[in-house]
Amino acid sequence: MPISFDSERKIFKLDAGDTSYAFMIEKHNYLSHLYYGPELSTMDLEYLYRPTVRGFAPYPEGMQPEASRDVTAQEYSAFGTGDYRTPGFIIRDLKGYTATDPHYVSHKIYAGKPGKPGLPATFGKEAETQTLEILLRDEFSGVEFTLYYSVFEGENIIARSVKVANCGSEKVYIEKVSSCTLDFWDGDLEFLHLWGSHCRERWVEREKLIHGVQSVGSMRGLSSHQHNPFFALAEPGTDETHGRIYGAALLYSGNFLIEVEKDQFELVRTQIGINPENFEWELAPGAEFHAPEVILTVSDKGLRGMSHNFHNGIRNHLIRSWWKDRKRPILVNNWEGTYFNFNAEKLLNIARDAAALGIEMLVLDDGWFGHRNDDSNSLGDWFVFEEKLPGGLNNLVKEINKLGLKFGLWFEPEMISKDSELYRKHPDWVLEIPGRTRSLGRWQMVLDMSRDEVVDYLFDSICAILDSANIEYIKWDANRHLTEVASAVMPPERQKEVSHRYVLGMYRLHERLLERYPKLLIEGCSGGGGRFDAGMLYYVPQIWTSDDSDAIERLKIQYGTSLVYPCSTMGAHVSDCPNHQTARSTPFETRGIVALSGTFGYELDLNKMTQEERDLIKKQVADYHKYNHIVANGDLYRLTDPFTEPRYTVWMQVTKDKSEFLLSYVQSRMIPHGPLYSVRLDGLDPARRYRNSETGEEFSGEALMKAGFMLPHLFTDGTGAIYHFQAV
Ligand code: GLA
Repeated sequence: MPISFDSERKIFKLDAGDTSYAFMIEKHNYLSHLYYGPELSTMDLEYLYRPTVRGFAPYPEGMQPEASRDVTAQEYSAFGTGDYRTPGFIIRDLKGYTATDPHYVSHKIYAGKPGKPGLPATFGKEAETQTLEILLRDEFSGVEFTLYYSVFEGENIIARSVKVANCGSEKVYIEKVSSCTLDFWDGDLEFLHLWGSHCRERWVEREKLIHGVQSVGSMRGLSSHQHNPFFALAEPGTDETHGRIYGAALLYSGNFLIEVEKDQFELVRTQIGINPENFEWELAPGAEFHAPEVILTVSDKGLRGMSHNFHNGIRNHLIRSWWKDRKRPILVNNWEGTYFNFNAEKLLNIARDAAALGIEMLVLDDGWFGHRNDDSNSLGDWFVFEEKLPGGLNNLVKEINKLGLKFGLWFEPEMISKDSELYRKHPDWVLEIPGRTRSLGRWQMVLDMSRDEVVDYLFDSICAILDSANIEYIKWDANRHLTEVASAVMPPERQKEVSHRYVLGMYRLHERLLERYPKLLIEGCSGGGGRFDAGMLYYVPQIWTSDDSDAIERLKIQYGTSLVYPCSTMGAHVSDCPNHQTARSTPFETRGIVALSGTFGYELDLNKMTQEERDLIKKQVADYHKYNHIVANGDLYRLTDPFTEPRYTVWMQVTKDKSEFLLSYVQSRMIPHGPLYSVRLDGLDPARRYRNSETGEEFSGEALMKAGFMLPHLFTDGTGAIYHFQAV
C-alpha cells in the first residue's frame, strides 16, 4: 500500500514511486515531520523525531518543555503558540485573537484522489492513487484543518493541500493559508527558483540559505513573468545528474508566496501558497476554504531526476485536455507576421502558403474584434471587426478549412479597453478604486473576474464567436497585471478576497468553456509566459513560453521552464529575423531546432519566405511529424546548462523504451579555432546500437554514453544541428 499507518508508533509513511515521506503524531498530538527522500522499507523511524529542551522555546502549560513547536519539524505550522518560524496559517477571530494550536483528531486513508472545488487539482484512477486525510482541530476557536496527501502509484509525486473549516459559532478571518508546510531537520540546503521578466521568463537562480527568511512570490494578480510558483531545495553539490533535490510546484495562477527559512537550530521551514499580502477571507460558521494544491517531489538524481518526476506527474495526472496525448497541429500565428495590419485576403494568402508547406492551422492573433487597429481599444468587444473581415469569421474559416487548415483565434478575456462598448455599458465591471486614479497597462484595464455576471458575459460572448465558425483552438492572453484590486460589489471588509476570487473566476470561465467545447485546444499566454504555472496546465495543455522568440534567448527560457514543465507544454515557434525582440539573426535551421523542442509552429509572414526558407519549412514540418512523439512523450536530458555554458547548448529527448532519440545542438557563441566539443549522451540502452537516421552511421549506446558523441565543428554563431537516432 502506498500509504501506511503504524498505529503503535503512530507513524504515517507515504511511498510515492521510489520515494518515501514520513511523519508522526507525537505524544502531545502534534504532527511532526520525520523524513522525505528515497524509498524506505521500514517504519522504524521514531528516532528521527528529536524534541529538545531549548531556551526561549514556549510550550503549552501542562505539557513538558520539549512539547515546544519551535524546536521540531512540523507538518503544518501554527501561529502564536510558540512556533516563531513562518506560520502555515493565521486565523483571526471576532475578538481579534490570532493564536491557534491545532491538534491531531483523526485520519482516514482511501483509494482515489478528491478534486478541489473551483481549483485545479491532480487526478488519478482509484486503482492508481491513494489519499490520506488528517483532521486537526483548534479547540479554542473550533477551526478545523484537513490536510490532504495523495500518492500516485509509480510516480515520485505527492500532492498536498489544505481545507480550513469553521466549526465554531462565530465568523473567523483567514489572514494566511499556506498549501503546505515542508520542514527539514537538516538545513544545509540551497534555494533554487525561477525568476525573470517579460521576454526573459524562468531564468534559474540558486542561492545558499541564509539564517532568516528568503522569499519569492507574485503580487501581480497573475503568477507572473517575474517569479514562478515553484521552488527547489538542493543539497550542496547537487548538479544535473547527482545529489538530492526537493521540488514543489503550486497549482495556482494568482498571487503566491514561497518562504524558505533557516532557523536558529539550522532546521529549514518552507511554505508555499496564496500570497497573504492583501489577502483575507471571511469564513462564516459552517463554511470551508480550500487552499490550492501543491505537488512535491524529491530526487537523489539531481535536477534531471526532479524534472523527470514533475514531467511525468504533470503529463499523467494534471493535464486533462482532450489534446493531452494527441499530436498538436503545426500552426502559423500571424502576430509577428502582420501585427494589426491584416485583412481577410492577407490571411487567406498566408493560409494558402501554409497549406502548400504542410502547416496545419492558421491562428488569427490580436486585432480581429471591435474596431481594433492598435492596442488602444476594443478589449471586451468580442465581436468581429467587419471592416477587416467582411461577413464575419465564418466565410474566412470556411475558406481556410477548404485549404485543409484548421483555424484558431486569439482572445484576451480578462481585459477591457476604455474605448469599448463593454466599458461604456458596464464601467463598474473594472477592477478599480472609485475616485482614485487608475493604473493602466498597455492602455487597458482589468475586468472584475470575481463577479459572476462578468464571467457569464465572457462565456456568452466567447461562445457566440466559437459557434459562429469552425474554431478549433484559442490563444488565451492576459497582457497586464492587476492594480487597484477592488470590486464594486464587495463590501469594504471583504475587498481583500478579490484577488483570489479573480483567479477563481478565471478558472470558472475555463471550466465552463471546456465543458461546452471538450475538444477545444486552448493555449495559455500572458504577454508570453507570464502565467506559465502548474495551475493553468489543468485547463490548457500548452502555454506560449515567451514573447521572446529569439532562438538563442529561448535556450535559457526553455531550459529554465523545463526544470518543472514538460516539453509538450511549451509553445515554441520559428519567427522572422532579424528577431523582433533582440534584432539578432539566427539561421532558419537553428530556429527550427529550438522550436521543435516544444509545441511547434511559425510566427512570421509566410508570403515573404524565400525558396530556401520554404524548403526548410517543409523539412521542419516533416521532422515534426517524424519526431514529435519523442519530444511530447519522451524523457528530456539536458546535457549542458546555458546559464553556465555560454558557448553551446545540447539536449536530448529519448523515448521511454529507449529505442529512439533526438539530439539537438545549438552553438550560441562560436570560438575561432575553438575546441571540438564532445558530449556524453544519456538515457540510452548501453547494450543497443543506435543508427543516425540521416547518415546511417551506427554507434554503441554504451560508447555514446561513456565516450561521448562528437559534435560537428560549426563556423558561425547561432548555428546548430539536430540528429535522430533509432536503435537497430
Ligand atoms: C501578447 C502575446 C503575443 C501577442 C500579443 C497580441 O504579447 O504574448 O503573442 O498575442 O499579445 O497583442
